[in-house]
Formats: sequence, C-alpha cells, structure tokens
Amino acid sequence: MTVYQATVSAPVNIAVIKYWGKRDTKLILPTNSSLSVTLDQDHLRSTTTSRADESFERDILWLNGKEDPIKEGGRLATCIGEMKKLRKQYEDANPNEPKISSYRVHIASNNNFPTAAGLASSASGFAALVSSLAALYKLPSSPSELSLIARQGSGSACRSLFGGFVAWEMGSATSGTDSLAVEVAPREHWPEMQALVCVVSDKKKGTSSTSGMQRTVETSTLLQHRIREVVPKRMEQMIRAIKDKDFTTFAEVTMRDSNSFHAVALDTDPPIFYMNDVSRAIIATIVEYNRASVAAGGPVKAAYTFDAGPNAVIYALEKDMAEIIRLVCYFFPQGVSFEDPMGVFPSGVQSGVPEG
Ligand code: ADP
Ligand code: DP6
Ligand code: CO
Repeated sequence: MTVYQATVSAPVNIAVIKYWGKRDTKLILPTNSSLSVTLDQDHLRSTTTSRADESFERDILWLNGKEDPIKEGGRLATCIGEMKKLRKQYEDANPNEPKISSYRVHIASNNNFPTAAGLASSASGFAALVSSLAALYKLPSSPSELSLIARQGSGSACRSLFGGFVAWEMGSATSGTDSLAVEVAPREHWPEMQALVCVVSDKKKGTSSTSGMQRTVETSTLLQHRIREVVPKRMEQMIRAIKDKDFTTFAEVTMRDSNSFHAVALDTDPPIFYMNDVSRAIIATIVEYNRASVAAGGPVKAAYTFDAGPNAVIYALEKDMAEIIRLVCYFFPQGVSFEDPMGVFPSGVQSGVPEG
C-alpha cells in the first residue's frame, strides 16, 4: 500500500511595510503592496503534515492538536481546493502519476509559538499548509505560483513562501493573478541583518487582523492617504535601501511604517489599539538608543516594528545585536527562561536571523 504523505515547515515573516486593508476580501487582494523579512530560526515556525487517502471521508485539519473546522467557502477550503485543482492538472499532464487529487486529505499543523497573538501565525500557517500539499502532490510550482494560493488563506502568508527580503506586489487584475510574492533579495544578500522578537504578550489578540483591517477600510479616512501617498513611495525607498544595504534608511522607513499602520488602526471607528504601554516603552527605548548613537556621531542602529499585537520585533545588524539584547533586558527585566539554562537571554526574548 502506498502512503501519500508529506511534512513541511514554514517560517513567519515580519513586514517592514505593512499590509493593512483588502480591496477584495474573498480573493484577499490588498489595498497596498507590502514588504517583509522572513525569519529563519526554529523559534517561530508552523509544521504541517498532509496525507491523502482513498479511505478518508472528509477533509480534516487539526491545528495544535484540535480540529479547526474547514468551512465551505472559507479560507482553508479555498486553499485545499486550489491545491487539489493543481494536482488534477498535473495528473492530466502526467497520466502515469497516481490519481490522488480526488482523495480527501487529513492535515495536522503545529505552531511552536503563540497562535493569533500578533506574531504572524497565519503567515507561517498558510504557507506551511500550501507547501505541504505541494510536496504531497509533487507539484512543480514555483514559490510565486504557490504564493497566489497561500494569499487566499491569509494575505501575509504569500510572503512566507520565500526566505530573505520579500515583496507582495498588490497587482491590479480583478482576478488576483498578479497579486503575488516576489523575492527582493535573498537572505545571503544581507546576512548581517537580524531580528529580535520581544514577546510582550502571548495572549490571543482582541481584534483579529482580518476583522480589524476590514473595519479600517470601512471607516478610516487616513487609510486613503496611506495607501495612495505614503506606501508607494516607501516601497521604492525600502527596495533601494535593501539593495544598497543602507541600514539607516531601512530603519527609518520601517519605524515610520509601523507608526503609520498603528495610526490607521487608531483612526478606525471604533479605534483599535494593538500596542500597550510596554510596546510604547520599547519604542521610547529604541528612539533614545538611536538618538544617543547619532548624537555621538554614530549610525542609526535599531528599528522597531509592531504587527497587529503588542509584541515588538527589532531589526538590527549583527554587530549591534548583543548590545540591543542587553539594553532590552536591562529595561525590561524578566525571570530566566527555562529554555535557556545558560541564563543568557531572559524569557520572552528570542533572537532570530532572517533566513536564506
Ligand atoms: P496572527 O497575528 O497570529 O497571524 P491572525 O489573526 O492573523 O493572527 O490569524 C490567526 C489565525 O490563523 C488562526 O486563528 C488560524 O485560523 C490561522 N492559523 C494559525 N496558524 C495556523 C496553522 N498552522 N495552520 C492553519 N491555520 C493557521
Ligand atoms: C499587521 O495576513 O494576518 O501583520 O489576510 O486577513 O489573514 P488576513 O490578515 P493577515 O494580516 C497581517 C497584518 C500585519 C501586517 C503584515 O503582515 O503585512
Ligand atoms: Co496574521
């Protein structure tokens, strides 16, 4: 008996130009392009196993050991359905391949970090789902092609199909065929770039990204300014900064775009507050750290960014990261982590590097 099964893991990505707003909620087409860095370490990953079998009676997905219902017409059903369609095309083109596209699938996925807490679990989750089905079905699809399907699971997921520095081009087609992820630069282009993930809270956020951004689209006037005037220029600046390895511009644009995203969240009615007092204290710490460095004739050394939650991600170059970790640990002291018997990092502070 042949077993048709594959396991793939996918990392999270943290945007430096944020996606926030959909022009098509079903196809998940964004109101602006976005750009992110994929984090490669093992701390923040989704691992997904997919299996196809003739005996299965229905498609089932277990997320962190609990069944997550696959609703008809929902995002999971769309992604699974699209992957089955690709397999069917592949079978039609390769008549010797086993006909497994009509089999039901059982999928088990686990996140090794908090789910729905603003640490981009939907990004790694749907990237891992689509990648594991692509491996199960032995599809020759490119990461950009798979990004078109992952996007329909969760917008940010399309960017996790690539490592390194990744843009999600918003596209203009109503069918969504040109709204996909492309590589801006591979991880090896700028290996000194690192990310420090500061877990301020691992609780599930009060307002999901999906409902929060929809409310912003419906009520915020500031969003129109952001998507028309602000983001297009920043995308160009950011792509140039990455290509030139210009950390000062990278950091300034990253911090301003995080602020702009949280400003449109606040401009939403009713307003959405993703950051808390600790988040704001982290901002103040990084601002002061950069100010002191520049005042002493040095460079900008760190960039904060916050997704839809209170947790901070700090981008910095490798040479400055040890100092930044000491700074964060000094101002935000915590007990020593059980994961860290050496006592080097306090709990809740994890260091990661973008992947290649
Ligand atoms: P986050 O900030 O963690 O991305 P979201 O509100 O955007 O939070 O998305 C969380 C949702 O993403 C979960 O409720 C679940 O539906 C989906 N999700 C998270 N992890 C996975 C996974 N490994 N596989 C499939 N879906 C997942
Ligand atoms: C703030 O991709 O989670 O992290 O497409 O509705 O699933 P859906 O939303 P999601 O939104 C991510 C928002 C963000 C910014 C970003 O990752 O670009
Ligand atoms: Co998400």
